[in-house]
Order: sequence, then C-alpha cells, then structure tokens
Amino acid sequence: MAPTWTPDSMPDLKGKVVVPFSTFETNIIIYLSYSKGLGIHTVKHLATHGAKVYCGARSKERFDKAQQQLLEENPSFTRERLIFLKLDLGNIDSVLDAVKEIKAKESSIHILINGAGMVTGRAGNEGEWDEVMAVNHIGHFVLTNGLFPLLKAACAEKDSDVRVVSVASNTPGIFLPKNYEFGLTTSVCLQKVVPYYPWRWQYLYSQVFGMDMVRYSIAKAATILFIKGLQQRVDEDKLPILCLSLNPGGVATDGAEDIMKPLFRPILRVGRLTPDQGSYHSLWAATAREPRQSFEKFKGKYLEPTGIITTQHPVMDNEEQRQGIWDVTTAEVNRYLSSRGLGSLMEWK
Ligand SMILES: NC(=O)c1ccc[n+]([C@@H]2O[C@H](COP(=O)([O-])OP(=O)(O)OC[C@H]3O[C@@H](n4cnc5c(N)ncnc54)[C@H](OP(=O)(O)O)[C@@H]3O)[C@@H](O)[C@H]2O)c1
Repeated sequence: MAPTWTPDSMPDLKGKVVVPFSTFETNIIIYLSYSKGLGIHTVKHLATHGAKVYCGARSKERFDKAQQQLLEENPSFTRERLIFLKLDLGNIDSVLDAVKEIKAKESSIHILINGAGMVTGRAGNEGEWDEVMAVNHIGHFVLTNGLFPLLKAACAEKDSDVRVVSVASNTPGIFLPKNYEFGLTTSVCLQKVVPYYPWRWQYLYSQVFGMDMVRYSIAKAATILFIKGLQQRVDEDKLPILCLSLNPGGVATDGAEDIMKPLFRPILRVGRLTPDQGSYHSLWAATAREPRQSFEKFKGKYLEPTGIITTQHPVMDNEEQRQGIWDVTTAEVNRYLSSRGLGSLMEWK
C-alpha cells in the first residue's frame, strides 16, 4: 500500500528558515550506504529539501557513480550538499576515522540516521564480533557515541530539532516467539548472536527463507533497544534529542529480494514499496513536525509506517535485556579500544 505521508510535506532544511522546528544550516549524517537500497532515495529527498548530507559509504567508486546520477537528475543539487564519508560499520577503526573526519569539519549535527543494515554476513569467530550484529548494532553504537558531542552542540542552537533515527525491522515480531530468550545480557551475544533457533524457524520458515532471519532479527532487536537506551541517557541529561527506531516497510530493494529462496521470491514482491517509497518513513521520523510536537509520546519509540508506535515484540519493553545489550556493547567495545591503545567510549553526557 502506498504511504500516506510523502516527502512533499517535509520542512525546508536549508539556510535561515522560519519554519518551526527547522534548524539553520542543517547538517545531516546518513550512513545508509548511498549506493543502493533506501539510502540513495533518503539522501535525494534530504538534499532536495536543502540539507547537507554526509553519506556514509564503503565504496567511493559506488558513491561517485550514485552522486553523479543524482546530480544529473536534480540540477538544483550541488556537490557540497552530498558529501562522501568513508565508513564501514563492520570495522570499528573505520567508524572512529569517520567520527574524526566529521569532527574536523563540523561543530554540530542535527540529524543522524543510522540506516545501514545487513541480513547476512560473516559469523563471529572466537574473539570476533558477528558481522550482522556489528553492522546493525555495534557500528551504530560507536558512531553515535563518537558524534554525541556534536548532537549535543546542536541542541544548544536556537530552535534546533535534533534527532537520532535508526532503521530497524519488524522481523523480531515475526521470527521470534514472544517468550524467546535473547541472551543480550552476556557478551557472547555479540559474537554468537543466536542462542537457539525456535522450532517454527527450524521446521517452517527456514524452508522458505534463504538467509538467517533469526540472527538478523536479534541484531535488529539490539538496534531498537539501543535507541531506547539512548533516549533514557539523553532524558537523564535533559537534552531534547528525539530518538526513534522504525520499520521502513516491505521495500523492493536488492537486499530484501535475496532473503527468500528463489522459488518464494514472487510472494515477497506482492505489495512491496518502491525503494523511493521505502525512504519515506525514515524521512518522516527525521524531519516531520508531529513527533517533535508530541515529543513525550514518541521519544524512544519503535514505529511502524508511518509513525505508528508499536510494541512488536515483548523484548522491546524488557529493561534487563535493554540494559544488558547496552552494558555488554560498552564493555566489549572498550575492551577492543583499550587493547589497541585507543582509549574508551565517551561518557554519554
Ligand atoms: N528492504 C526492506 O524491505 C527492509 C525491511 C525492513 C528493514 N530494512 C532495513 O532498511 C535498511 C536498508 O535496507 P535496504 O533494503 O536498502 O538494504 P540493501 O539494499 O541491502 O542496502 C543496505 C545498505 O547498507 C549498507 N551496508 C551494508 N553493510 C555495510 C557496512 N559494513 N558499512 C556501511 N554500510 C553498509 C549497504 O552498502 P554497500 O553499498 O556498501 O553494500 C547498503 O547500502 C537496512 O537497515 C535494512 O535492514 C529493510
């Protein structure tokens, strides 16, 4: 079904704007790699509305190609509005380099969209993090931590509207039973993500899906819990940062196409959103006035399209699991940083 909200309703994100809740000189980071999927469309709409967008991407070559295409299709864009940010979320050193680069260029950030995700990737070996967990959760955690001072600085600007948006998924509610024991309170979950496979997966879903949707769902649950934890931290410091996680909807991207076995793919295509439509929910969460005007109602929530607050799995309200994944991520990242003489994560203050 086509989304009811479209980017035509987005506020102007450029210059000295009088629209309430807009900022002047809006700096946006998005790290959906811009080369494919929803990322390119999210960037397109943000830039169309005047934003300056840092596009986190692994490949400069793919970025250049996509940037060229966007510039050709949108003569009003300038190269300065679409900035390449070398970023591999599965690699902490790359994330730290990206933070350094942004800090050298900007003093504040108004919107951070943690959009990149992956369904399948390298499984963690001993001492290593699982790649699906790294890209969907650990990388987001470390990047947001590094950029936190810039988000905080944006809060001090007049009429600022600072948001952190993470693209999650509805799959935890689909693939994991309500009483599933996630095991997010021990560091093992970053390495061996799946403690056990539910019987429905073993005997039913795994016959239809070609990728490990249980592993992906647990990593996306971590994404949702990170946003909840972040909202708690900023609330404690009375920072007006709005943190949201969301499902973009079922979108016909390459990444989504591959999740089912070839025989079943036609089913998946029914009623899918186009990649352009798939960007709308992130854009709504990042820019629409409603969640800012109803801050208390929306803060820290997970949303189904468009803007519908939902508890799609009980783990989302599980305080022990939420605190657990926050603590183990902090401890494990700090262990990694300290073993390389890189200090530690910053205080979220
Ligand atoms: N499509 C759907 O129906 C659907 C449904 C629910 C949730 N989602 C979520 O929506 C987001 C976008 O999905 P999509 O369908 O656009 O997926 P996609 O076509 O597979 O694109 C995923 C994006 O993430 C980037 N990425 C992957 N690994 C990365 C890494 N290590 N570092 C930096 N970037 C990395 C990819 O960049 P490269 O170009 O470098 O590969 C790519 O641009 C994901 O978080 C996904 O989980 C999608």
